[in-house]
Amino acid sequence: MKTTAIILAAGKGTRMKSALPKVLHKAGGRTMLAQVLHQLRAAGIEDCCVVVGHGAEEVRQSLPQDKNLRFALQMPQLGTGHCVQQALPHISADCEAALIVCGDTPLLTAETLQNLQAKFAQTGADGLILTAEMPDPTGYGRIIRGADGGVTAIIEEKDATPAQKAVTEINTGAYIFKFPALKDALGKLTNDNAQGEYYLTDVIKIIAEAGGRIDTLTTPDAVETTGVNDRVQLAFAAAELYRRKAQELMLSGVTIIDPAACYIDQQVTVGQDSVIYPGCQLRGNTHIGANCVIDSDCILTDSTLGAGCHLTKCVLTEATVGAGANIGPFAYLRPGTKLGDNVKIGDFAEIKNSTIGDGSKVPHLSYIGDTDMGSGVNIGCGTITCNYDGMNKHRTTIGDDVFIGSNTNLVAPVTVGAGAFIGAGSTITREVSPNALAVERSHQREVKGWAAELSPKALAAKKAAK
Ligand code: UD1
Ligand code: CA
Repeated sequence: MKTTAIILAAGKGTRMKSALPKVLHKAGGRTMLAQVLHQLRAAGIEDCCVVVGHGAEEVRQSLPQDKNLRFALQMPQLGTGHCVQQALPHISADCEAALIVCGDTPLLTAETLQNLQAKFAQTGADGLILTAEMPDPTGYGRIIRGADGGVTAIIEEKDATPAQKAVTEINTGAYIFKFPALKDALGKLTNDNAQGEYYLTDVIKIIAEAGGRIDTLTTPDAVETTGVNDRVQLAFAAAELYRRKAQELMLSGVTIIDPAACYIDQQVTVGQDSVIYPGCQLRGNTHIGANCVIDSDCILTDSTLGAGCHLTKCVLTEATVGAGANIGPFAYLRPGTKLGDNVKIGDFAEIKNSTIGDGSKVPHLSYIGDTDMGSGVNIGCGTITCNYDGMNKHRTTIGDDVFIGSNTNLVAPVTVGAGAFIGAGSTITREVSPNALAVERSHQREVKGWAAELSPKALAAKKAAK
């Protein structure tokens, strides 16, 4: 069946109390809208139309260009029915079914969306509503059934009689309709209700009264259908997405010591037999190889790790790390960091926009910025690259197997040839030839007996003795 999804995303989200349009708030690493779209695509629905309105441009920009993704504009926002009406001109005439979801229901799963489509195809109903049993149905539209049990209407909370309010079967806000029936019913909507809005939910009554059949699918898990209207619900949705992600990873062979204490975004991948300790946040497009240990308190954003890495208490942002790296505690890898295999980055080391070759070590207290470092290099404690002259950034080049003594300053632009040694405490401003020893510091001077004769303490003692 040729199906188009319509995503309602034009509302302001007043209860979020935010300058950001509601559907752009993130839960589990994606905006709510991107998460809904992701699940639709995972359920096999390619063709999607997002109705934007409040913050339209911002919402549009938040999604990647895609020929199967179209936008309709709803301005002003006169209700969910009016919202879907705006999508109609963007839907091709041969569309057979329209699947409607709200942009603020990020917990809907692809599986449920698939079940919805399957039941719809099976029963041949004109409309199928995804419903849920809510012990406390407050705020939701209620499913009203006739004497024969068939659905006759959805009544919104604000329009409901006390008897209707007592109904615990609610409208989750996800539906699938035969497109011609939906189109026809949308043309008959009025805004004669408590909120003065064009309710999408009224199409149910219109279709039923015209003799059409409305079916329901009740989700076994009401949590899935949570609509996010405020930040308390946003936190609830995020927690659920993190819980699901941890579960998926554990079932795929990743050990997570305390799943409630890790925050792993939806897009992240982790290889088998890796272990994740509490306090870790794996964000965005982060990919971790097999057999890694991500010890406590690491924050990885858009970073990639090869197999067998060991990380402790470090922050990686847009960094790429080869296999077998040992990083931290207290290391900071900034954007553009590319480490080869078996690299060691130790405590209080910061790396930015630099390539570091296989087996090289930056074990303690260093800043390496805008550097191309070969393999087998040892960077002594406290060594830094002076990459910025107050106007421009310059690069440092360090050849293979270089040994840099502790507390060296490498003033860029500068090159240290392969195999060279640099004496501790040097400030290197000129090129060092391969295999040379470069030392840049004054010769050590000694004043014999200074402490006993000339130190302030010695002088004071002499004065007192006079
Ligand atoms: C809606 C349903 C209700 C259901 C509930 C499930 C209606 C009239 N009511 O109520 O039966 O139980 O969802 O969560 O449909 N939107 C627009 N344009 C508008 C109005 C809304 O794009 O003019 C979008 C919102 O951005 C949101 C979605 O539609 O993503 C739902 O709107 P919202 O105001 O949250 O509806 P509810 O009151 O929750
Ligand atoms: Ca809602």
